Amino acid sequence: MADEFSSWLDELKRRVNIVDVASGYNIALNRKSGKYWACCPFHHEKTPSFTVDEASNMYYCFGCHKGGDLINFVMEIDHTDFMGAVGILASKAGMTVPEFRSSGDKAALSKRHRDRLYSLMRDCASYYHKCLMSDKGKRARAYLAARGISERTIKVFGLGYCPGFDDSIAHLTSLGYGKDEMIEVGIAGDKRGGGIYDVQADRLIVPIINNMRQVIAFGGRVLEKDKQPKYRNTKETVLFDKSRELFGLHTVKKAMIEEAVDSIIMVEGYMDVISLYQAGIGNCLASMGTALTEMQAKLLKRYSDKIYISYDGDSAGQKATMRGLDILYGEWLNVRVVSVPDGKDPDEYVREKGKKGYMDLLASAKPLFEYKLDKLAQEFNMSVPEDRGAYAVKAVDILRALTNPAQVDVYIDYISARSDIAKPVLVRQYESGNTAESVAAPVIVSGKKTGKIFKALRFMMYALYAGVEGIDKSDLSAYITDRDLRAVYDEYRRLSACGEATLDDLQALADINHEVKEIFSEGKTVPEDAAAGYYADCYKSVLKEYRKREMSEFTKTIDGEDSGDGKAKLLAQYAELKFKDKRK
Ligand code: UTP
Ligand code: MN
Repeated sequence: MADEFSSWLDELKRRVNIVDVASGYNIALNRKSGKYWACCPFHHEKTPSFTVDEASNMYYCFGCHKGGDLINFVMEIDHTDFMGAVGILASKAGMTVPEFRSSGDKAALSKRHRDRLYSLMRDCASYYHKCLMSDKGKRARAYLAARGISERTIKVFGLGYCPGFDDSIAHLTSLGYGKDEMIEVGIAGDKRGGGIYDVQADRLIVPIINNMRQVIAFGGRVLEKDKQPKYRNTKETVLFDKSRELFGLHTVKKAMIEEAVDSIIMVEGYMDVISLYQAGIGNCLASMGTALTEMQAKLLKRYSDKIYISYDGDSAGQKATMRGLDILYGEWLNVRVVSVPDGKDPDEYVREKGKKGYMDLLASAKPLFEYKLDKLAQEFNMSVPEDRGAYAVKAVDILRALTNPAQVDVYIDYISARSDIAKPVLVRQYESGNTAESVAAPVIVSGKKTGKIFKALRFMMYALYAGVEGIDKSDLSAYITDRDLRAVYDEYRRLSACGEATLDDLQALADINHEVKEIFSEGKTVPEDAAAGYYADCYKSVLKEYRKREMSEFTKTIDGEDSGDGKAKLLAQYAELKFKDKRK
C-alpha cells in the first residue's frame, strides 16, 4: 500500500510544476540566473529573496529561510496539513487521491459524497449571489449600500440574497440535486404538509468558506432592524462543525499572501470581518458569536501566533473576550486585547475613524494579563484601602494561570504599583496559594489539593510521563490551573515536543515541585495493564468537572447580563454547552 502511494505521489510531483503552482497564488516570479525570484509570500519584504527552482521543484527564501518541496510549499501557503496539500495539488493535476483503506469502499464513497455536498453548497451560494445582483436582490443591495459595503466586497465574500422559500430549491432541483442532499447540508427543512423549503428565506446571505475555499455553511441576516433572530446560521452538518471553524479564513489567506501580515485580529461578527476587510485590514477572523474553542485556537495557530482580540465594546462581548483569552493562552499564543471605545463594534469604529484610526487602536492593545488586571481593577474603588486589598488578592489569583516565573514577577510589580501593597506581601500571597475562591471552586485551583479531580490529574500526569500506550493525548492545559500540576504538565509538553518524556524527567522535577511525590504515589496505585483504561476514566471525570464549572460560571454571567439581546445570545450558548454535556 505504502509503495503504491509513494509511486502515485511521485507521479503527482512529476505532473505539477512549482513555478505554475506559485504563480497560481499570485506570486510574481521573475527569471534570473536559472532560478525564479519573487518577494517572499511568507514574510514581508521589498526586494525579492524568495526563489523557486523548476528543476528540483523546491523553494527557498534567503530572508526568512523557509523552504522545502512542492508539498511543503502548499502546506505553508494554504495553512494545511500534508494530505490537504496533496489534495490541492492532485486537483490541479487532474489526479484523484487514491483511497488506501482496506475495506475502504465506505470511506471512498463518503469522500465522493462529501464532494457532491460541497458542490451543492457552491451552486447554492452562487445562486444566492446571482439573486442579490439581480432585480430580486434590490432591497438587500440597498441594505448593503446603506452599510457602506461596496460591490467589490460583495464579490470577495460572495454575499448573496435568498429570495424566498422555494426559488433556490427549484433551481437546485433543476441542477439535479435531491431533497435529501439539500436537507443534509442544512439548506432546506421539511415543510409541514410535505416537500421542503429554504430556511434562509428573505435573508442576506453570508457564505462561510473554509480554508480550502469550500462553502460549508451560510449565515443569513434579516434585513429589518429588530426582527429576530438577527442571524440564522446553517445547523451543524457533515460539512460544518461550528466549533472548528472560523469566518474569514479565505480572506485572511489572501491578506497573508498579498500584504505579508504577521498577526490575526479576532472579532465577533461577520460584519466586522467584512467591514475591516473593506477598510484594508484583511487579517481578521470571526468566531461567529460563541466563545472560542480549543479547536479554533489550534486552527488559529496555523496562521499566526500573534493574536489581537477585538470584540465588541458591550458587556456580553467583554465577557466572551475573557473566556476566549484563556483558551488562547492555553495554546501559548501571544495575545493582546483591543478595547474599542464607547461600546462600539469594530465595524462601526472603522467606518467612523478609518483604517488609520483602527490601526491606532491595535497599536495600543494591551497584553493579555495587563488587560485582565486592569479589567479587574475597574470592579474596585481603588481609593479605598479595603478595596485595594481585595483587588490584590484577586489579582494575584489571576497570575496563577501564568507559567513563566519572570512574567509573574513583572506582574506582581504591576499589582504592587496599583494597589500600593508592598511586593513581598504580594509574593507571600502568591506563594501561599490562598485563592479568593479556594473553597468555592471545586476543580483545579491551588490551595485545596484533595479530592477526586486532583487524584485523577495526578494519575494522568504519571501515565503521560510513564508513556502508557493507548491514551488520549489531547491537550489538557485548559483543565489544569493548579500551578504545580500545570508546571509538571507544561514540562511534559515541552519534552514530548522534542522527543519523549520519561519518569526520570518527572523525578528530576521533584526538588522544585511539590506535586511530584504525590504523582508518583498516585501512579503506583494502578497496575500497568489497567493504566490506559484508568486514564480514560480520569479524563472523563476531569472533563465532567470542568464542564460543570464552566456551566456554573456561565449561569453567573447570564445573571449579570442586563441587555435582552446579550442575554438571548448567552442563553443560546448555554443550551449548546448543556447539549455537549449530555453527549459526553
Ligand atoms: P453581532 O451582533 O456582533 O453581529 O454578533 P454582526 O456581524 O456585527 O452583525 P451586524 O453588524 O448587526 O449586522 C456577532 C456574531 O454572532 C453570531 C453571528 O456570527 C454574528 O456575526 N450571531 C449573532 C448569530 O449567530 N445569531 C444572532 O442572532 C446574532
Ligand atoms: Mn455589528
